[in-house]
Amino acid sequence: MTTEIHTPTAVESGSSATEAFRKSLARHGTADTDRERIDTFARDVLGRIHDAIRAHNMTYPEYQAVKQWLIDVGESKEWPLFLDVFVEHVVEDVASQDHHGTKGSIEGPYYLPDQVMLPAKATLPMRQEEKGTPLVFSGQVRTLEGTPIPGAELDIWQADADGYYSGFASTIPDGNLRGVVVADGDGRFEITTVQPAPYEIPKDGPTGKLIAAAGWHAWRPAHLHLMVRAPGHRTVTTQLYFRGGQWLDSDIAQATKPELVLDPQPDADGVL
Ligand code: DHB
Ligand code: FE
Repeated sequence: MTTEIHTPTAVESGSSATEAFRKSLARHGTADTDRERIDTFARDVLGRIHDAIRAHNMTYPEYQAVKQWLIDVGESKEWPLFLDVFVEHVVEDVASQDHHGTKGSIEGPYYLPDQVMLPAKATLPMRQEEKGTPLVFSGQVRTLEGTPIPGAELDIWQADADGYYSGFASTIPDGNLRGVVVADGDGRFEITTVQPAPYEIPKDGPTGKLIAAAGWHAWRPAHLHLMVRAPGHRTVTTQLYFRGGQWLDSDIAQATKPELVLDPQPDADGVL
């Protein structure tokens, strides 16, 4: 028998992310396919690829390498990882240009719906031996005019102190560090959790191979994911970061915004 420390693999995260994405499409549906818009957009994207090939004199062996890599991304089911890391931030930017209030950020590939509902003052589900610095995150959900929103839902998900997400790593129990907190009659909440670690794109899959081959780093700064919902209000999907956190200025997903950086202060017991 061999014993080895099991770390989640790209295939594991990728295939779970692809399945989660398919389920969310089945729930929410796809966009209308307007022929003219597809024609314009597809032409533009292809034209820009042609331009890049010409500008950099792409060779046949390079073309074959790219073809192989694209096949690999699909076979490892890594498209959600790849797209959410390298593309989603621009889609979010365009979508939120007329929005006011709390800034949004990318949803990423690791959201899972239907998590446990929790009261306004709650501790996220975690293992008995959950590693990491305890963290208390409190606040109030308000309208743009400042009126509290009673019963607003804060759907929260995060990586653990090793940088892995439940539902995408077989070593972590389902639902770990995920929950839907229901704000009180004053829109307030107080969530106890642990500080997440920075997240590194799995290195053993094609996305990781591209990153290594290009000499980039594969890190996102530590973050909490939030989706805040209330009937009659636009849902805010965002992320919260930590002041001084590593990779804050070089997030591979380019999804940080200065307004989203928290500065938690330790209490007498060292709880942030
Ligand atoms: C990815 C992972 C994340 O945790 C995140 O917030 C955004 C993107 C990714 O691997 O694609
Ligand atoms: Fe994340």
